Amino acid sequence: KEIFLKNYTKPDYYFETVDLSFSLGEDKTIVSSKIKVSPRVQGSSAALVLDGHDLKLLSVKVEGKLLKEGDYQLDSRHLTLPSLPAEDSFVLEIDTEIYPHMNTSLEGLYKSSGNFCTQCEAEGFRKITFYQDRPDIMAKYTCRVEGDKTLYPVLLSNGNLISQGDIEGGRHYALWEDPFKKPCYLFALVAGQLVSRDDTFTTRSGRQVSLKIWTPAEDLPKTAHAMYSLKAAMKWDEDVFGLEYDLDLFNIVAVPDFNMGAMENKSLNIFNSKLVLASPETATDADYAAILGVIGHEYFHNWTGNRVTCRDWFQLSLKEGLTVFRDQEFSSDMGSRTVKRIADVSKLRIYQFPQDAGPMAHPVRPHSYIKMDNFYTGKFLCTRRKFIKTIYYVVFQSNMLGAEVVRMYKTLLGSEGFRKGIDLYFKRHDEQAVTCEDFFAAMRDANNADFANFLQWYSQAGTPVVKVVSSYDAEARTFSLKFSQEIPPTPGQPTKEPTFIPVVVGLLDSSGKDITLSSVHHDGTVQTISSSSTILRVTKKEEEFVFSDISERPVPSLFRGFSAPVRVETDLSNDDLFFLLAHDSDEFNRWEAGQVLARKLMLNLVSDFQQNKPLVLNPKFVQGLGSVLSDSSLDKEFIAKAITLPGEGEIMDMMVVADPDAVHAVRKFVRKQLASELKAELLKIVENNRSTEAYVFDHPNMARRALKNTALAYLASLEDPAYMELALNEYKMATNLTDQFAALAALSQHPGKTRDDILADFYNKWQDDYLVVNKWFLLQSTSDIPGNVENVKKLLDHPAFDLRNPNKVYSLIGGFCGSPVNFHAKDGSGYKFLGDIVVQLDKLNPQVASRMVSAFSRWKRYDETRQGLAKAQLEMIMSANGLSENVFEIASKSLAA
Ligand code: ARG
Ligand code: ZN
Repeated sequence: KEIFLKNYTKPDYYFETVDLSFSLGEDKTIVSSKIKVSPRVQGSSAALVLDGHDLKLLSVKVEGKLLKEGDYQLDSRHLTLPSLPAEDSFVLEIDTEIYPHMNTSLEGLYKSSGNFCTQCEAEGFRKITFYQDRPDIMAKYTCRVEGDKTLYPVLLSNGNLISQGDIEGGRHYALWEDPFKKPCYLFALVAGQLVSRDDTFTTRSGRQVSLKIWTPAEDLPKTAHAMYSLKAAMKWDEDVFGLEYDLDLFNIVAVPDFNMGAMENKSLNIFNSKLVLASPETATDADYAAILGVIGHEYFHNWTGNRVTCRDWFQLSLKEGLTVFRDQEFSSDMGSRTVKRIADVSKLRIYQFPQDAGPMAHPVRPHSYIKMDNFYTGKFLCTRRKFIKTIYYVVFQSNMLGAEVVRMYKTLLGSEGFRKGIDLYFKRHDEQAVTCEDFFAAMRDANNADFANFLQWYSQAGTPVVKVVSSYDAEARTFSLKFSQEIPPTPGQPTKEPTFIPVVVGLLDSSGKDITLSSVHHDGTVQTISSSSTILRVTKKEEEFVFSDISERPVPSLFRGFSAPVRVETDLSNDDLFFLLAHDSDEFNRWEAGQVLARKLMLNLVSDFQQNKPLVLNPKFVQGLGSVLSDSSLDKEFIAKAITLPGEGEIMDMMVVADPDAVHAVRKFVRKQLASELKAELLKIVENNRSTEAYVFDHPNMARRALKNTALAYLASLEDPAYMELALNEYKMATNLTDQFAALAALSQHPGKTRDDILADFYNKWQDDYLVVNKWFLLQSTSDIPGNVENVKKLLDHPAFDLRNPNKVYSLIGGFCGSPVNFHAKDGSGYKFLGDIVVQLDKLNPQVASRMVSAFSRWKRYDETRQGLAKAQLEMIMSANGLSENVFEIASKSLAA
């Protein structure tokens, strides 16, 4: 059933207080809820419709009176109470029975490694008890949890612990009270054998907050980095946004079975253990960075999401866009701003832009959905940057585009103006469930700002394409930039209006320095400026900006820092781009210039390849990258990013018909060619950036490792025994997983005995650590070695694999879809593999299955043979019995597009 934003209506009944009681058992759990209900309009005679799914109803009472069967209606998704007391408020009591041990969907209450835990966002609370499962129902909760004392010594829920004690039969209980009103998606319960790492944080205003990170005992040593991250996040939110924690206790629990990255339940965050547990030997730099970011993200939700929440799920970006923006800023401040920006923009290009050009394209605020979970996109996918062969998970929170929209407010208003907007937002909306317009209005009103047609960002899908044409008039000493914008049609939105695009520009003189801009003419008005860069407000389909007093033809640096999430086409020549790569004061744009050059060059080579022409690499490109490589003034991680080629997906995205084989061949060619021409420099880098010191998580050390390992991967691509030896040596000498895994990845690029031996060695070493074993799966599943589908099929039967564990599915199956040559194999073997798995998986876990089926969604981008093969799999999936709404939505929209 499709749900529409335009059909939103206020609820007929509000819930004021909710008292929950759980009696946890091995084969069933009894949930009792007691709700104080009040009608929105006094004397209302509306029916109260409660959501419920997979629940066994035991009893319903209104004002203490047991309802008989005819007094209510029950179907597979609802409990409807047609006649209710016409009072100001009344008490509703419902008892249900649920079966957490059989819950493989991992939403609602379920068991993970013997412990009970919950995941309620977006609509999982209805699998716990009958409720108005919508975020604008905000209530104060208490929660009593009772269970076996030996099996479940720790009993946690939201808020403060009020009392606890033993009860007969070897059982005990804990009573929790959350003083803040919350929507039910923030409810959480955890029970099990857990121990905690304890620490404290004193807030600016002197509140002593007790911090606890809970894991099974054997994992406790691996929680130090998570605790460091939490304290850093708490401090940062005070410093940057003036936001303090509001309770005396903050709990984090790590669980091995979790659909997503983590969840911001009030004072009881639940995390995928991948995003909590780390030690130098078992986690890579990318893991450490992801943990920092996601711990920050969930903590920041306490204000942006929990204290102020969403009116309905269409407003998801209100909390996610803003919170992703906040976690990006946090990570930037803790590391390198440029490098973080490059990483985030890359993700946007790899995931968001293709999605926005496909059947699942939707605006930042969708107009409709079938299953809300499908709109938490981009989170917890696997990928790899092929070129450097460093394989890692991209774990990011949903709503990357929403974060870009929030970033544009900040670009337009400056840090102070943005902060004023945030302050007003909390002043107006604390403890409310609100909309994206409310956020927009706070930003506008706090600054008296003119945001023109900015709201289009919320309602139009598709990535704007901005064309820029420049011209210099030597006589008039003016430089003009003409912009035109076009937003491509998307499903259900054939035509689009222009939107507000902030363009941060600077102009470089012939020595590569920024020109001090004096004034810009636009639309008959003159704006005086005196800085090296300025923001142009592009709001129309076509418009021109003219800079005056420019004494020579400059090279424009456009969209500095990626000031708007658009695709840009400029008339810059290759020489201009090489010039920017060498000189731009905006480091992001130096990287960008290199990427634009690489994309152009690779696209040309792809067409040469398709026409059977010999491939030749432009020597200027080699030179350009070579000089970046040996520029000791640059940040090392920046260099690593700058010498990394755009991914295969990015190139395919720019083709009329995507050709995975050609793109793969070309990328491999360019990579080898670069490695062979720059090998002396690359080798020097490897040798100069080794370290035998203990692992340190800080930017300089991470940057050093990133550069060294990127260089190593280049060298290993040459298949030269000397470099294989070098990589083997790095593998053996490594003192941390970052270095060891990079060497392993470098070595396993080529099929053969070395690869088999080293993979076996690594498995033997780490077989008892499931997080490391997942990386071992991922390394093999993403491999481009020919016919890899057979390998992956074998790995499905590996004793360490389990289709019920999402991380393992993401590693092995998601990872496989990340190798275009193998997933899109022309014989259809990759498609068939995925099709079969999706059907199997959907019976266990619809959320995970729908993530996997998304790999088919852009099937129309490929040639006819592939289209036919992929379509057949989608049709096969659609015909499966008992298909979930999750998979149905993706598969049907993919077929219809
Ligand atoms: N709010 C969570 C976060 O930001 C995302 C959880 C989404 N879960 C889901 N099943 N849709 O980390
Ligand atoms: Zn979030």
